[in-house]
Amino acid sequence: MKAVAAMALNRVIGRAGGIPWHLPEDFRWFKTLTMGGILVMGSRTLLSLGRPLAGRGHVVLSRDPERLCGAVGDWALFWERARNAGWKVRLQPEWEGWGGVGDREIWLLEGGAEIIAAEAESVRPVFLAGGAQIYEQWLGACGELFLSVVEREVEGDAVFPEFESRFEWVETVMRSEGFHVRRYQRRNP
Ligand SMILES: NC(=O)c1ccc[n+]([C@@H]2O[C@H](COP(=O)([O-])OP(=O)(O)OC[C@H]3O[C@@H](n4cnc5c(N)ncnc54)[C@H](OP(=O)(O)O)[C@@H]3O)[C@@H](O)[C@H]2O)c1
Repeated sequence: MKAVAAMALNRVIGRAGGIPWHLPEDFRWFKTLTMGGILVMGSRTLLSLGRPLAGRGHVVLSRDPERLCGAVGDWALFWERARNAGWKVRLQPEWEGWGGVGDREIWLLEGGAEIIAAEAESVRPVFLAGGAQIYEQWLGACGELFLSVVEREVEGDAVFPEFESRFEWVETVMRSEGFHVRRYQRRNP
């Protein structure tokens, strides 16, 4: 599994449930990198997207998927938009492995640990896409990290975990106005 994230110089990745910068080039980079693959994310990150991302399967972690499905307010709006765009919500009892994740499917999983541990069986690339809680728990399961470094300090309430002791810098894969993207590989244990 590959991790993909964008982090400010002070390690901030989010604020008030959203991303505290607007870098369209970075969104384009994220889209190009992840297109055709499967995104693994926490329920708060899914909600923050406002809608699922076309061309990619979604595996979403929640301790209470039934609650999310039946929720009112922002979640109700999210599901309405997703269903109108042809997305299907699938729950853990239906899980048949990574090969069964369709492009227009959002899998809501409560016991994600064992499933994520088996991600190597996926023929499509699997990307750990945040947020803070999810990076904290599963960054160690990633062999590669694509990190967009936003070249300033930003106020926020979600931060990227310490990774420097576990990953080594390989190359800078792109540079753009205000950020650059570094590729890291996991150090040998
Ligand atoms: N800059 C970036 O690259 C980037 C990327 C992604 C997100 N973000 C930002 O990060 C912030 C969101 O991060 P966050 O830490 O608040 O939330 P998150 O990691 O996206 O999601 C947290 C939720 O995931 C579920 N969860 C966590 N651990 C679990 C486990 N072991 N088993 C099952 N479910 C589990 C829980 O959902 P339930 O509450 O449903 O139980 C929990 O509330 C937002 O500001 C977002 O914009 C930034």
